Amino acid sequence: MKVVVVGTGYVGLTTGVALAYLGNQVTCLDIDLEKIAKLKNSQVPIYEPGLPELLEISKENLHFTTSYDEAGIGTCEVVFIAVGTPSLADGNADLTYVKAAAEAIGARLDHAFTVVVNKSTVPIGSGNWVGALLREAYVRSKGSQPDEKYAVASNPEFLRQGSALLDTLYPERVVIGSEEARAIDTLTNLYRPILNQDFPAPAHLPRPEGLSAIPVVTCDLASAELIKYAANSFLALKISYMNEIAHLAEKVGADITQIARGIGLDARIGPRFLQAGIGWGGSCFGKDTAALVAISKEYGIGMPIVQAAREVNYHQRTWVVDTLLQELKILKGKTVALLGFAFKANTDDLRDAPALDIAKQLIQRGARVRATDPVALENARRLYPDLGVIYCDQPLETLRNADAVVLVTEWPEYRDLDWAEVIKIIENPLILDGRNFLNREHLEKSGYRYVGVGR
Ligand code: UGA
Repeated sequence: MKVVVVGTGYVGLTTGVALAYLGNQVTCLDIDLEKIAKLKNSQVPIYEPGLPELLEISKENLHFTTSYDEAGIGTCEVVFIAVGTPSLADGNADLTYVKAAAEAIGARLDHAFTVVVNKSTVPIGSGNWVGALLREAYVRSKGSQPDEKYAVASNPEFLRQGSALLDTLYPERVVIGSEEARAIDTLTNLYRPILNQDFPAPAHLPRPEGLSAIPVVTCDLASAELIKYAANSFLALKISYMNEIAHLAEKVGADITQIARGIGLDARIGPRFLQAGIGWGGSCFGKDTAALVAISKEYGIGMPIVQAAREVNYHQRTWVVDTLLQELKILKGKTVALLGFAFKANTDDLRDAPALDIAKQLIQRGARVRATDPVALENARRLYPDLGVIYCDQPLETLRNADAVVLVTEWPEYRDLDWAEVIKIIENPLILDGRNFLNREHLEKSGYRYVGVGR
């Protein structure tokens, strides 16, 4: 099929490259000139494992442009809107970019039938709103009604940064919402190779063993939109629940990692997203839980569970600082080394990263903060040059003379550090393992005071 993807962030670019790999003719459009210039040179502007390789393999089917006129919207069967929907101050999603994209697309619809797909996470009701924007833009540009030229669909994305391509090629489900059967049919056809799992897997992204047909959920627009918010919020509250239990575990002398195993083996609960730690960050959970709370207010109902999950989550960041204060007694003049800066491993994304709040609070209390990360430092230096954090390329540089070490991001290389040697260069052997990720036994044997979360 001929496909246009508007927005080349994690979602748009991954979707575009994956669909091109599956044999579709894909044009990725972004208003960011720098991003498109890089992509035209086969450079991927974000860190996402496997993406540069898949882009290279699929490049014959991929086109990049900053121009709506050049994107070929008038001749394509599917247009994805995958632009950013950042949080506004009141928690609602900022739909400025969605509106601009819908208007630009509407003015150019010309194919017999085009499905315009909301892939961005958008508030409930946005599908209808986008439909109205498309119609108005069409009428303004062509002077006639679009009749049956287009239909709107919602096709929420469930990919995780760091494993975005695996999640796209081998998803656990595909959700397609629309009021029009034709739109659902078109998207089902587009996703057919994924649904049937009958495409040849890229060598560097092998198909999980035993994976066969993928379930597809077809529903109305509002349900698809709410599925996305409900899924992200549920995952977020699963984590917050474990963080809440972790505080009790610590008090009663229990170990949250054993509790996670003990409850996760119950299939009704499931083992995933039960890791206690410094809480969730990233571009999605914070934004989507805030939006869900804001949407519920519009309808005069509260979302106390989701709200509580948010409070528990953001408290985890303060908990790190409080724990360091308790351990070190005085933070002024002390040096804290942060291992990892991104919100999780395998990404260079710093949006809502716990490290930012932890660093800010420590600096406010007079501590010196040094931080390292295998891939996120370039972003940290560019986006947060004035945070007061000393960014170090090498972990050992970060750790030298530290009074406390905080494991912020679960990069395997931090677990594999030669900790018996590290102890010789640090000032005080205190480790706060913010992800319960390091080898506690080994660290304690090597002479460290180990503090985990809820253990
Ligand atoms: C999340 C969802 O998992 C995706 O399904 C969804 O598509 C995406 O948001 C989105 O809406 O775009 P992502 O934010 O990339 O994906 O990352 P996750 O792997 O879900 O991790 C989110 C945060 O939770 C990270 O900070 C991670 O460290 C933390 N986490 C995760 C925990 O603290 N404990 C866990 O057990 C799992």
